[in-house]
Amino acid sequence: MSEKPVLTIALSKGRILEQTLPLLEFADLMPREDVQTTRKLMVDGPDDWAGSKIRFLIIRAADVCTYVEKGAADLGISGRDLLLESKPNVYEPLDLKIGQCRLCICGPKDAVESGKSAAVGGRVRVATKYDNLAAQYYRKQGLHADVIHLYGSMELAPLVGLADRIVDVVETGNTLKANGLIEETTLFDISSRLIANPASFVTKKTQVQAVISKLREAVVDREMERNK
Ligand code: ATP
Ligand code: PRP
Repeated sequence: MSEKPVLTIALSKGRILEQTLPLLEFADLMPREDVQTTRKLMVDGPDDWAGSKIRFLIIRAADVCTYVEKGAADLGISGRDLLLESKPNVYEPLDLKIGQCRLCICGPKDAVESGKSAAVGGRVRVATKYDNLAAQYYRKQGLHADVIHLYGSMELAPLVGLADRIVDVVETGNTLKANGLIEETTLFDISSRLIANPASFVTKKTQVQAVISKLREAVVDREMERNK
């Protein structure tokens, strides 16, 4: 008997993971170990799911695009913010409607409310991990962004004079408020997307389509539950 084909799905560690698991559960696509606690980075899933053996990679959110683009994973789950920033060569067949937030330009309350431009001599100091999106936004405004790349806690940068503005995701607004910042402009609405390697989309068409359609049902079910 021939071995079953393997379908590899890259999951983002961190905050998206918790919201991903109920969708996987609905689709009978559960990892066989607790991926929120295990130190293993590759975890088996069902042995026979639509004719495939499923395995999961548990990796940092920012790395999912790379694994899927290079074909180390057939499918992945990634925030739209990361897809817009790095523009990987992947398909994006489904909005999972989890990890919902918005990508915004934010600044100190007084400075934003004054309505005065943050630019000095046509340049704005912007702290962000979305270097490309920040540069692109300010370029369209006819300004140059001096991008200060940070890996987290962006809201601190304006408080200590490191930057005039930040580009970051906002959900409840609590982090901004706690640090005396407000939104100036919303750039994009964000949610997490199922992404697919373009070659896998063709060579593993049946299995990939089965995952898409089962997860689509899970998303619809979750939306119905939320709207009850
Ligand atoms: P790491 O913790 O590995 O440095 P990260 O901070 O990008 O990476 P997470 O905070 O888990 O990882 O965020 C992953 C994704 O979740 C983001 O790309 C974004 O799409 C979404 N996200 C981030 N922050 C929020 C938030 N406050 N509310 C909702 N979704 C968010
Ligand atoms: C994210 C983001 C904001 C915060 C926004 O940070 O970078 O700081 O969430 O959410 P809120 O509007 O609900 O407050 P995270 O908690 O991932 O920490 P980080 O800054 O270390 O990335």
